[in-house]
Amino acid sequence: MNPGTAPLGVTAVIAAAGSGERLGAGGPKAFVPLAGRPMVEWSLDAFRAAGMAAIVVACPPGHSREFDASGDAGLRLVDGGATRSESVASALAAVETELVAIHDAARPLVTPALIGEVIATLAADPGAAGAIPATPVTDTIKLADRRLLVGRTLDRDGLWAAQTPQVFRTEALRGALAADPAPTLAATDEAMLVEAAGGRVLIYPAPAENIKVTTPLDLRLAELLLAERAAG
Ligand code: CTP
Ligand code: MG
Repeated sequence: MNPGTAPLGVTAVIAAAGSGERLGAGGPKAFVPLAGRPMVEWSLDAFRAAGMAAIVVACPPGHSREFDASGDAGLRLVDGGATRSESVASALAAVETELVAIHDAARPLVTPALIGEVIATLAADPGAAGAIPATPVTDTIKLADRRLLVGRTLDRDGLWAAQTPQVFRTEALRGALAADPAPTLAATDEAMLVEAAGGRVLIYPAPAENIKVTTPLDLRLAELLLAERAAG
């Protein structure tokens, strides 16, 4: 941990408990090798460099031993749950700071700079409950039914693709998770729960490079981007 450079008062929660069905690597996605290291380690590096007060990782149940947490007093491992919200809720129980940054282990390209910008966006607006990185949608988006019949085309103007880390006032996120009417359904991010609870959520326009690794193609792209970074 590196409290010297810290925006003290922010805990990172890394959601790493998913099974990675769509990647199909035969094991939990967070531990799939990426540029020579388990995928989750790239996010850990970024949050360590950003100077968090603490980092809590929600691990796939039974897999926390694959983690080398030795020598890192600020790192806590907890067992995740069956859904993303349950994983985040169990990690949130260990959070003691005013702000919390929720991040997907599946976004290994996150940088300390992006983490700092999202925190700063929230810190600059005392009335906001959260701030999220997002990129403008570039594809034309169709709303279709299960028979693949197009119902209509959404107006792309104003559509943003949400990323992580998503930064919240910890109490606002706790309240939103508690108020979630359907906690067993998979909320795909935390901001949607905070929005549903009436919280104001701000967007920080983020680099598209902060991709989410979902499919084998994404994994190849992440390898290329990390190789490019390593080459300087
Ligand atoms: N996640 C989690 N706990 C769950 C489900 C997901 O912590 N029960 C985390 C994943 O580890 C991932 C992030 O939420 O970092 C985003 O989820 P996703 O990309 O859907 O990952 P998986 O659920 O692992 O993948 P899939 O849906 O393909 O099985
Ligand atoms: Mg999933």
